[in-house]
Amino acid sequence: MKQLQRQSGTRRDEDIPISQTSLYSPKALKHPKSLSRSISYLLKEQRLLFILVGILIGSTFFILQPSLYHLSSGTHNHLIARSNSFAGNRESITYYDHNGVMETNSVENKNNYKYHNGGRVPVGIGRKRKRIVVTGGAGFVGSHLVDKLIARGDDVIVIDNFFTGRKENVVHLFGNPRFELIRHDVVEPILLEVDQIYHLACPASPVHYKYNPVKNIKTNVMGTLNMLGLAKRIGARFLLTSTSEVYGDPLEHPQKETYWGHVNPIGVRSCYDEGKRTAETLTMDYHRGAGIEVRIARIFNTYGPRMCLDDGRVVSNFVSQVIRKQPMTVYGDGKQTRSFQYVSDLVDGLVALMENEHVGPFNLGNPGEFTMLELAEVVKETIDPGAKIEFKPNTADDPHKRKPDISKAKELLNWEPKISLHKGLPLMVTDFQNRILNEDEGKGNK
Ligand SMILES: NC(=O)c1ccc[n+]([C@@H]2O[C@H](COP(=O)([O-])OP(=O)(O)OC[C@H]3O[C@@H](n4cnc5c(N)ncnc54)[C@H](O)[C@@H]3O)[C@@H](O)[C@H]2O)c1
Repeated sequence: MKQLQRQSGTRRDEDIPISQTSLYSPKALKHPKSLSRSISYLLKEQRLLFILVGILIGSTFFILQPSLYHLSSGTHNHLIARSNSFAGNRESITYYDHNGVMETNSVENKNNYKYHNGGRVPVGIGRKRKRIVVTGGAGFVGSHLVDKLIARGDDVIVIDNFFTGRKENVVHLFGNPRFELIRHDVVEPILLEVDQIYHLACPASPVHYKYNPVKNIKTNVMGTLNMLGLAKRIGARFLLTSTSEVYGDPLEHPQKETYWGHVNPIGVRSCYDEGKRTAETLTMDYHRGAGIEVRIARIFNTYGPRMCLDDGRVVSNFVSQVIRKQPMTVYGDGKQTRSFQYVSDLVDGLVALMENEHVGPFNLGNPGEFTMLELAEVVKETIDPGAKIEFKPNTADDPHKRKPDISKAKELLNWEPKISLHKGLPLMVTDFQNRILNEDEGKGNK
């Protein structure tokens, strides 16, 4: 081998003809004249002028870009204006919906947003635009959450089988290129590329989940498994909307997240209660076992526009009964208590939880406690002081007391509800009145 190398080495030297080697000479140093030649080249045919004009156009574009964006934003549906006033970690976001109606929302800021002092910031520059799946996004809570995420500048894919959800809840987003709607049952697997998964798909009202209890368990168990599997596969963050029903008929009051609950595992409500408890177990096991990022919210009674008209939940029942001039049905003696949270407060809490670093579970609810009779009084005051009450026997496993302890969410998420029942109820009543008065809409919900 060495011999071969030596041979080839010698041959190379030998192969170079003497005549060629003698032709080699180092590159001549540039003559100073070449500089003047370059200058004269630039000056010829107004080349320098063209270069200067190019630089001028380029810099003009960069200087004017923000104001060009401002002008063109008039044609956009959603312009986000971030205010400069930050209270702690919260930022107030003003956005305009498709009807040009201005809304202001407060969003958790921890680590997720870059702050800009220059007033209006184009969507996508202030923070990285996320791609988000919302299962059950055509339902009551889901559709409000989708509105918030879209207004914030994210891309949202809604997955819904329309069991209790309605296209009407998201129809205002149909023209928006950042919104997609997929008719799909979460019991079946699906593959999508997203950053975050809000898993809401599950009927929330007793009327609907008792309609097909086995299907409800499938939705909670197989649906949650499928969404956790998706989160694991694509490395997305997963948020489960669990419920205060995991506390059952609680022996501890108010309920803290540390309370393990008092649930009847074989009752008529257990398809929902135990279904959600299993969904929480699956979520934690995927977190511990597969290391996926998870969040768990335990939602307490929530009300607001877009709730199903006749879904058996107490607020929607009372409101639709009074609008239809029917007596309000109170089950039992009406002394059982509930807390009522306005939907925008819940949506703020869900987003704060998703964007924060804590797994949970977190109680998300309004601690203001009302008996059913007190609620009936507020509904009367809001709609019709002459409305009547009708008493009926209580339903099985109806909890006597329900009130969240939200100190954990207050402390770690910097979240607490802001809208009182007296303020929120009229907003829901207006929506219900419009829908009940619209005959087609009324029929569509029956
Ligand atoms: N609203 C409340 O007071 C409340 C309280 C506690 C928990 N939650 C939870 O919040 C979530 C949303 O509740 P909501 O009040 O908006 O209820 P909702 O019934 O209005 O919405 C549920 C949505 O999920 C869809 N869905 C149901 N099963 C599905 C399936 N198998 N595949 C795909 N989509 C399916 C429905 O069509 C609907 O759009 C639920 O998980 C519920 O358990 C709500």
